Amino acid sequence: MRTKTSMRLGVGLAAASVFAMAACADPDDDQLVVNEEIEMITEAAAPDHMERVRTIYSGWRFRSDETQAVQMDDFDNPAMIWVDAAAEVWETADGTEGNSCASCHESVDSMEGVRAVYPKWNEAAGEVRTLEMQVNDCRENQMGAEPWKYDGGDMTNMVALISSVSRGLPVNVAIDGPAQSTWEQGKDLYYTRFGQLELSCANCHEDSYGLHIRSDHLSQGQINGFPTYRLKNTKLNSVHSRFKGCIRDTRAHTFAPGSPEFVALELYVASRGNGLSVEGPSVRN
Ligand code: HEC
Ligand code: HEC
Repeated sequence: MRTKTSMRLGVGLAAASVFAMAACADPDDDQLVVNEEIEMITEAAAPDHMERVRTIYSGWRFRSDETQAVQMDDFDNPAMIWVDAAAEVWETADGTEGNSCASCHESVDSMEGVRAVYPKWNEAAGEVRTLEMQVNDCRENQMGAEPWKYDGGDMTNMVALISSVSRGLPVNVAIDGPAQSTWEQGKDLYYTRFGQLELSCANCHEDSYGLHIRSDHLSQGQINGFPTYRLKNTKLNSVHSRFKGCIRDTRAHTFAPGSPEFVALELYVASRGNGLSVEGPSVRN
């Protein structure tokens, strides 16, 4: 027999066990200000393209007060250790051309606003690029250096550094024009049911946010806070690592970090957060 919760969610029997003990709790009303200075938008009207959600919330609003507090001061936020490490790498020459990032981009402050608009269509390459793809393009073609592993530490640290100078700015990825077909592919993936549990991203993060499952408080699965320091694995986590983990939890085979599928999914999920502040590097469970 299907439980009331599973009927509400329209999920099958296997998935019903995940939601069986679910209890409902809305996001809290706390305000996120980092370093008593950067005021974050953690709640906004949903972008027009979202048909079934009226208000979007940062994942921060679903965390406990203790977890929330860790993100409110850079001295407490362990992610800042890796941001500092990346700031050194920014200045360090690598590759056959003898360039560092700073050789061309000067201060990392020149990256202000960049995190907010990625993934982004690159006209010359004729593709939608994530920040990771762009960084590796610079390493290979501007520096003559080896590309970094897509979701490896060097890359995730650098993305955290670039993100940190956009904190507070609203996410604003473009989904029209040449990016549209990639966005639509990402949208299809978001509503595809994966694995033995036959659950889509939407089943959990659109239909069920606010519920407690497996002792976790389900958020809308936003990516404005990435990279994220997770208390669970005590390191920085990239967007694609998180996607991988969520798909695995449905007991499905998953896509690889950096795959076209995850790039498309990232564009789509980012667009569901248009209007929320860039928070990365954030702190989550
Ligand atoms: C030799 C010069 C050069 C070096 C060195 C270089 N870049 Fe770039 N970078 C560029 C150019 C040129 C662009 C613009 C490319 C384009 O729009 O297609 C760019 C674009 C970018 C962008 C996208 C900016 C935007 O507004 O969309 C990022 C992010 C970036 N670089 C990061 C890095 C990082 C991180 C490093 C070091 C690992 C680095 N770059 C090293 C020349 C360089
Ligand atoms: C079985 C339910 C379930 C499914 C299906 C699922 N997730 Fe999640 N997801 C979770 C839980 C639980 C968390 C941790 C609590 C939270 O932040 O929502 C989470 C966290 C996330 C986060 C981190 C949010 C933050 O603020 O740091 C993102 C991003 C995310 N999921 C994206 C996805 C995407 C994209 C899909 C589809 C490929 C997906 N999830 C499928 C349960 C699920």
